[in-house]
Amino acid sequence: MCGIIGYVGKADATPILIDGLRRLEYRGYDSSGLAVMNGSRTVEMRKCRGRLANLQKLVGESPVAGNCGVSHTRWATHGEPTDENAHPHLDRSGKLALVHNGVIENYQKLRQGLEKEGHAFLSQTDSEVLAHLIGKCYDEQAEGTPEMRLVHAVREALGHVAGTYGIVAMHADAPGFLVGARLGSPLVVGLGKGENFLASDVGAIIAHTSDAIYLRDRDLVYLTDADFKIETVEGGSSKFEVSRVDFTPEQAERGDYPHFMLKEIFEQPETVANAFRGRLSDDEASAKLGGLNLTPRELRDVERIVLVGCGTASHAAMVGEYLIESLARIPTEVETASEFRYRNPPLDKNTLIFVLSQSGETIDTLAALREGQRKGHRVLGIVNSVGSTIARESDGGSYLHCGPEIGVAATKSFTSQVTLLTLLALLLGRMRHLSMAEGQEILREIRALPEKIERILTQSEGIRRIALKYLDAPGMLFLGRQFNYPTALEGALKMKEISYIFASGHAAAELKHGIIALVSETLPSVFVAPRDSVFEKNVSNLEEVRARKGPVIAVTTEGEGEAELKSIVDDLIAIPSTHECLSPILSVIPLQLLSYHFAVARGCDVDKPRNLAKSVTVE
Ligand code: G6P
Repeated sequence: MCGIIGYVGKADATPILIDGLRRLEYRGYDSSGLAVMNGSRTVEMRKCRGRLANLQKLVGESPVAGNCGVSHTRWATHGEPTDENAHPHLDRSGKLALVHNGVIENYQKLRQGLEKEGHAFLSQTDSEVLAHLIGKCYDEQAEGTPEMRLVHAVREALGHVAGTYGIVAMHADAPGFLVGARLGSPLVVGLGKGENFLASDVGAIIAHTSDAIYLRDRDLVYLTDADFKIETVEGGSSKFEVSRVDFTPEQAERGDYPHFMLKEIFEQPETVANAFRGRLSDDEASAKLGGLNLTPRELRDVERIVLVGCGTASHAAMVGEYLIESLARIPTEVETASEFRYRNPPLDKNTLIFVLSQSGETIDTLAALREGQRKGHRVLGIVNSVGSTIARESDGGSYLHCGPEIGVAATKSFTSQVTLLTLLALLLGRMRHLSMAEGQEILREIRALPEKIERILTQSEGIRRIALKYLDAPGMLFLGRQFNYPTALEGALKMKEISYIFASGHAAAELKHGIIALVSETLPSVFVAPRDSVFEKNVSNLEEVRARKGPVIAVTTEGEGEAELKSIVDDLIAIPSTHECLSPILSVIPLQLLSYHFAVARGCDVDKPRNLAKSVTVE
């Protein structure tokens, strides 16, 4: 939530900051702003509510120039999305500018204290309180250069703060100098030639440099165009390493696609292949996941698995539960990260915890990881963003390697997560009861996935036509069984998050326990019913909907499934057949396309749905 970028160098900061914000907009888009220093010992600020285009217009009408600046794109936590609440925030002197991602939990108390000393606030934000606090600490420093006074002031102010922060601050007295710090919210240093950056995500700086330092919690950094220093917030030394960013600027661009979401849906043949490339073992009819850092013996000793995630990642985890239990017969549970972290579930020593996160920054998932580790468990990560906090703090794991996912609605990360969980289930299964022959069949089917996904994608136009038929629907039901029950949940999530119609996903048999009361001529039901072991059961539920005149869209297997359902459903989308346990990787794709086309036709902003942010770094 919220994206920040700071620049110090020789170039004009404004276009660099605006381009960086454009790449960070997925983190929040309620308002945006920037502040620039031009060497004349003043800070010039422009900020406004709404999308980045508003800021661009504002800067176009009233330009600001300088070689050092900070900027922010906001997802509102404290205070509505207004011009005043937009970042940056200035201190009392107007010389210090701060951008902040996170939540200052004790801001009310801090604000009251500052108000008693005569500080007046222009916004309702916790962040402005922090700006004033740093400014006050700066003004109270009697000695030192302006640069070191700013460093000490940040340090001192953060000592009074409870909560989370990723911040960048600059002061008019210290031109060409930025101070950043993080606790709970991500912050990356980008090292350029004669220029340096601070940003919430490497995506914001990849056009300028691929050398990055992922800061740790409690790190404080100060930098000029030529140099940088990283210490802890408390003033101690901190270890860091320079990493090479593993994707190109082009990968973070939309190309010819109208939306990132569509681009990411269409990338899935490749991203699924990336998830299994180099990880299949034909000799053993198994998978190789070296990053787990577990010996075969340790893997054999696992008695229980807990999979933790939020949103789409938790739906992938649910598929994982079916996969691991059916292929490896290890009892597996899925916990929503926000519940897990506070629930204190009993876990014994042979329980292995996996946290799943595309961004690697979701605060609840990170907290769940730390909670698991606190209790002495090994916690492994299934993460996409290399170098993210979850990736760094987990005790091992596997990367998705699906490239930057920018559309707020997760698509390719889901299929990559499920692919990786399939490999995990296969690996654990082959150490237990799964036969060589079944292992080989699953490997064959995994390898065939990219080509099968390609075939589904060729139906995009047909799926669009189906979506157009239901544009006036007041809502939509998504129903599936077994492996495709989580797919139904994911289909419903996609539909509601980008098209704003009410949609809910259910285990198909649950229909009779209440949901069927909703069925009417206007409410379509999407059945995910491939030709699998529960096909007939799904068909019975589908008939129950038909008998009540509910329109039915079915996703089923080409050939047999198609033949059986054609005459009884209103619309049919056929997918290639595969091993039952892999079917969610195929069946989710028509659902992604259905919600995409539906939302586009309804005029929704699919890449930036209202009220959402891609990376949820507040509780
Ligand atoms: C947000 C996003 C979802 C995502 C969830 C978990 O809610 O809008 O698309 O599934 O966070 O994100 P993560 O990065 O942890 O997978």
